[in-house]
Amino acid sequence: MCGITGYIGDSQAAPVLLGALKKLEYRGYDSAGIAVLDEGTITVRKAKGPLSALEEKLADAVITGSLGIGHTRWATHGEPSDINSHPHTDVSGQIAVVHNGIIENYLSLKEWLQTREVVFRSETDTEVIAHLINFYYTGEKASGGMPKPGFGEPPLLRAVQNALERLEGSYALAIAVADYPDRIIAARKDSPLVIGLGQGENLIASDIPALLPHTRDVIYMEEGELAVLYRDHVELINAQGGRVIRAPSRVEWDAEAAEKGGFAHFMLKEIHDQAKALSDTLRPRIKNGGIVFEEFDFENFSFEACAGEAKRIVITACGTAWHAAMVAKYAFEHFARIPVEVDIASEYRYRNPVPGEKDLVIIISQSGETADTLAAMRLAKKGGNRILAITNVVGSTLAREADLTLFTWAGPEIAVASTKAFTTQLMCLYLLALKLARVRSRVTEGAYRNYIDELARLPLLAEELLSKQKLIQRFASRQFNKTKVFFMGRQFDYAISLESALKLKEISYTHSEAFAAGELKHGPIALVDKNTLVVAIATQTALFDKIISNIKEISARGGASLVITWEDNPFGPVADEVFTIPKTLDPFSPMLAIIPAQLFAYYCSIQRGNNPDKPRNLAKSVTVE
Ligand code: AGP
Repeated sequence: MCGITGYIGDSQAAPVLLGALKKLEYRGYDSAGIAVLDEGTITVRKAKGPLSALEEKLADAVITGSLGIGHTRWATHGEPSDINSHPHTDVSGQIAVVHNGIIENYLSLKEWLQTREVVFRSETDTEVIAHLINFYYTGEKASGGMPKPGFGEPPLLRAVQNALERLEGSYALAIAVADYPDRIIAARKDSPLVIGLGQGENLIASDIPALLPHTRDVIYMEEGELAVLYRDHVELINAQGGRVIRAPSRVEWDAEAAEKGGFAHFMLKEIHDQAKALSDTLRPRIKNGGIVFEEFDFENFSFEACAGEAKRIVITACGTAWHAAMVAKYAFEHFARIPVEVDIASEYRYRNPVPGEKDLVIIISQSGETADTLAAMRLAKKGGNRILAITNVVGSTLAREADLTLFTWAGPEIAVASTKAFTTQLMCLYLLALKLARVRSRVTEGAYRNYIDELARLPLLAEELLSKQKLIQRFASRQFNKTKVFFMGRQFDYAISLESALKLKEISYTHSEAFAAGELKHGPIALVDKNTLVVAIATQTALFDKIISNIKEISARGGASLVITWEDNPFGPVADEVFTIPKTLDPFSPMLAIIPAQLFAYYCSIQRGNNPDKPRNLAKSVTVE
């Protein structure tokens, strides 16, 4: 998804903007550009392709100026090309805009502007914003409201406000205007934007890693807000036009946490981060042997009361987060004996769901900015449900709009393919399931404490498992050319099969699917031949025999098989390969069983010559539908 940034300060803007854009690369992009303002002129440089293509263009000319905006574009309207790349300018070239989001009514705005002789250069929705601002700004100037820096509401701000009022859809915007060399204007609606407060410089960006080389003091912009960034201060204006004072938040995690730390790729680093991340998610919530959610001690939402009363849990999310929800269904039903409904957010939002008065609605999202997930949350809220969010991003829209938020504390996840966010989401969900089980007296105090002790062992077991990564690497080097890879399992293992298949298809571009092992004979077996690899996830001991039969059926048709299972297992004689994981309780297996599958996807991707951190066509944060 697009990344935007802006800089105003004493340094040269171009290198700062390029540095910030590099930190936003993880979001996925197909082109990039910057606009720098100097002595009343805005210079724009943009290029299709990686940032290095833009850097090459910039190498030809020295671009001076200490105010600028920058963008990495992930094409939605118009193909990836130099022309469609941002920044976009108005007809005069005096107003430059970078945008993340989608302007849904851009076609009608474009037609309206064209009737006023505006000539469009690109196929993007964003270009209308630059022209609209120009339209209102020219009007303001013509009516006598000439710019008076530092004096009341300048015509520029009014022009931006008027333009924004015409926009339907989502946007995070940074705007530079030649008449105003002392400020950048930023605005947000349904797309994230964070302000970085530096010493004699201020910045704006879609995400924190872009700000960290300059500052740890940040302000998260709220829905509908405008910000005016000067060199030495920042003004915030809410949707009603009122001034807002908001204390900055301090970013506590290290810039290094967002770097590769010696690993070849962010994805590999993040797979290895999981042991620590699981621990970071678990530890703060364990007090005197029990589970305590200190974040839930709010007057209007007692988790205990809500959980105790809940007749049903509804969980909705997208992609990997939806797979975490699938695992949670088994965990909540197993431990707390409460019915759980799981829905993909994009389905939930359009299927006219029936909210139950006593539903507990859980929304899961690593980024907290996924458009479908936010829409599902707002729908559930409108239906009168209380919302419990699980997210990794402090200050995200989800965290700010939910009634309660459980943070996953996984640290920044940069690789597009989610790994540590998934396992830490699971940890949060298991903590909730066990707490709920205890609140509803579904487990004894003794059993509850034993379960918690076992959860606390998982980070160590994950570490042990990760030390065997070479075995998976070797296996991947033999199997990466398979044209079809299927994952199968039962119950918890079915949910992990879904996530395993997604990982493999995302980064290795291998056709992979998951199915419940019991479904093998109902269709998927027709596809099994000698080009097929079937990976069975087998951690539910009571169902081992069933999986043995499934594997025999696959071998009989020439398919190769790998089983991911406990150390003590019966699969050696039937499967081609067995990869073992250290033993924990069967229902806790998902937090471990997914790790070999993540590694397998990673190494297949490497073998195929792909960049696992930036898979084609995918974006880290899907902030549009
Ligand atoms: C995960 O590997 C994917 N990149 C994707 O499915 C992701 O989980 C999904 O887009 C949801 O993102 P979120 O957790 O940020 O809401």
